[in-house]
Amino acid sequence: MKSDALQTSGLDVDKLPVHVAIIMDGNGRWAKKRLMNRVKGHEKGSQAVTSIVRACRELGIQYLTLYAFSTENWARPKSEVSALMQLLKKFLVSERPELMEKGICLKVLGQMERLPEDVRQKACETMDATKENRQMTLNLALSYGSRQEICDAVQAVAQKVAAKDLAVADITEQLVADHLYTAGMPDPDLLIRTSGEFRLSNFLLWQCAYAEIFVTHTLWPDFTGDEFMEILTNYQKRNRRFGKVECSMPSDG
Ligand code: FPP
Repeated sequence: MKSDALQTSGLDVDKLPVHVAIIMDGNGRWAKKRLMNRVKGHEKGSQAVTSIVRACRELGIQYLTLYAFSTENWARPKSEVSALMQLLKKFLVSERPELMEKGICLKVLGQMERLPEDVRQKACETMDATKENRQMTLNLALSYGSRQEICDAVQAVAQKVAAKDLAVADITEQLVADHLYTAGMPDPDLLIRTSGEFRLSNFLLWQCAYAEIFVTHTLWPDFTGDEFMEILTNYQKRNRRFGKVECSMPSDG
């Protein structure tokens, strides 16, 4: 059954990305342009998060992964880190009823142990409350770094080899993927980065091997559901070959 959003969008339901990942960049510049404190940009950015989560749920997108705080972001001024943590905590509490109502499961990807105790607690509560929800998965990448994630996976695999629970020959791509924070989830089909920067910034390096990448100049707080629809329309026109050749030639037989 198609949702209203899908029916009116003109999108092909069979060609929707299963997993969308977003590098939400440009909050600081959004604020600077308005002579505001950077934190105002993050606040406005939080509102954009709510509307994109809604849009994904309405369209029936199964997984949305948002880069909300990187391992490198700890090096920002203390006041900005603390404001971001408070915003995240607020989001984790205030969005809980809607996540429940819409059947969205929240997961945190990253070093949970580095988060302040109160944020970690709210994250655990929301993850626990939403863990049986099956309509969509919302991954928040918090204190996330892809290289760290890969190191963690390598350590876990090495321990199993040392304990002789695994042989070296058992180490396949699938086995490595099964030890990442995203274990059990499909890889992103579509990676969006706002604010016009052409970088991956240590985000889902393994998982985005075949993701279609879209960079928009829009700053994250200005990113809307309409622009998201335009990107999805564009995505559906891309020819995803996964390194193979397209079979457009008539066959010999
Ligand atoms: C990058 O913009 C954005 C971040 C480091 C944080 C992203 C956080 C939010 C969108 C709000 C809180 C998130 C949730 C899930 C409630 P920037 O500060 O690097 O911008 P700049 O490059 O223009 O300085």
